[in-house]
Amino acid sequence: MKKCRICNGELAAFLEFGKMTLANAFLRPDKLSGEFFFDLTACFCSSCCMVQLLDQPPREKMFHSEYPFFTGSSKKMTEHFRDFAQSVRSRYLSSGDPLVVEIGSNDGTFLSNFKSWGIRHIGFEPAENPALAAETKGIRIFRGFFEADTARRVLAEAGKADVIIAANVLCHIPDLHSVLESVKILLKPGGVFVFEEPYWGDVLSKVAYDQIYDEHVFLFSVLSIRALFERHDMEIVCLEPQATHGGSMRFVAALRGDHPVDPGVNRQIEIEMARGLDRTDAYRDFSLKCEASRKRLRDILLSLKKDGKRVMGYGATSKSTTVTNYCGITPELIHSICDTTPVKQNRLSPGAHIPIVPYEDFETTLPDYAVLFAWNHSREIFEKESGFTRRGGKWIIFVPEVKILGREDIYDSVSSVIS
Ligand code: TYD
Ligand code: ZN
Repeated sequence: MKKCRICNGELAAFLEFGKMTLANAFLRPDKLSGEFFFDLTACFCSSCCMVQLLDQPPREKMFHSEYPFFTGSSKKMTEHFRDFAQSVRSRYLSSGDPLVVEIGSNDGTFLSNFKSWGIRHIGFEPAENPALAAETKGIRIFRGFFEADTARRVLAEAGKADVIIAANVLCHIPDLHSVLESVKILLKPGGVFVFEEPYWGDVLSKVAYDQIYDEHVFLFSVLSIRALFERHDMEIVCLEPQATHGGSMRFVAALRGDHPVDPGVNRQIEIEMARGLDRTDAYRDFSLKCEASRKRLRDILLSLKKDGKRVMGYGATSKSTTVTNYCGITPELIHSICDTTPVKQNRLSPGAHIPIVPYEDFETTLPDYAVLFAWNHSREIFEKESGFTRRGGKWIIFVPEVKILGREDIYDSVSSVIS
């Protein structure tokens, strides 16, 4: 049995998905052979509470020149990162010529705000496509992974950072000890390391098992993050829950004693203890709920197929790879998945081989039902797609529970999904 990546403690498997492919390995229709599969198994460390994958594919397989994730593809995410940048600027940038460093800066959506304010910034980005997109916007990018030697190179060139940011990045990195050592190399005394990641507490309460895929080697609770940072003489000084990615937590960390600890940190720890996030029972309960969710979604799709209904997927998210493969959803059950990201279009979904089509095809295909794979953007999508339900179309959602939603459920009811 493998050991915990953080504390070397014993790992207990609580959800086994079996053979799974890479969430973002969208396939060319003419290149179907040689698809990479691995055993996707979620585990829990009873010593430090870190939820993690038993095995993770090599990072070069996941983050390569064709990596198709672009933060700026969502209008709401772009707004979120503008607000995040504004909050960082007003709270943490006081010195004369501050420096903001972002780990995994993707297409520069977050750093573009600092660029427009004339604030020094550098983004670390190893994936070529998003790095290029950021550079085209005039954002300073260091092409590479964030590690001790790359941090030292940036330090020599630009000095220490007032703030180091990471958004939806740390949960991808297996060697978090190396990240924290590198943060300490580059962070000014009194500086802060602010990161936001999908929150394990939300995954549990929403039965959002689709957050579990190859790239998410960890899913964080405050308990597990506290244990990790303690090992590096750092502490969490503030927490801010976020609605993004279906429920995230923004953690503000600093060197121990550098900043006062907000009382909300201990309050959240108490909430997690009360929910049993430090005990195996909560995890067993979660896996039973996942099984039930899988069965219900499959049953609905099978019965729609029997009735001759046309079902389409909406949003070829990374998460959808887990759902389609775990639930055995084939192109016979879902005709195609529409997505706004050009590099995903005209490819096939990983493992399940469902065609990915341009967003415009959602209008022309006239599906009877649409499975909302991009459920984390439900508000934005329901606002944009009111015409679909007006025509009688129905949404199938699976988080927090598997349900079919019509116009009246989304737009007309008092407790409307988008209100
Ligand atoms: P994302 O939210 O990043 O989820 P994940 O981390 O699971 O990949 O992905 C959203 C995907 O949905 C992305 O491929 C773009 C697509 N999308 C649409 O096609 N239409 C939309 O209106 C939105 C908001 C997203
Ligand atoms: Zn551990």
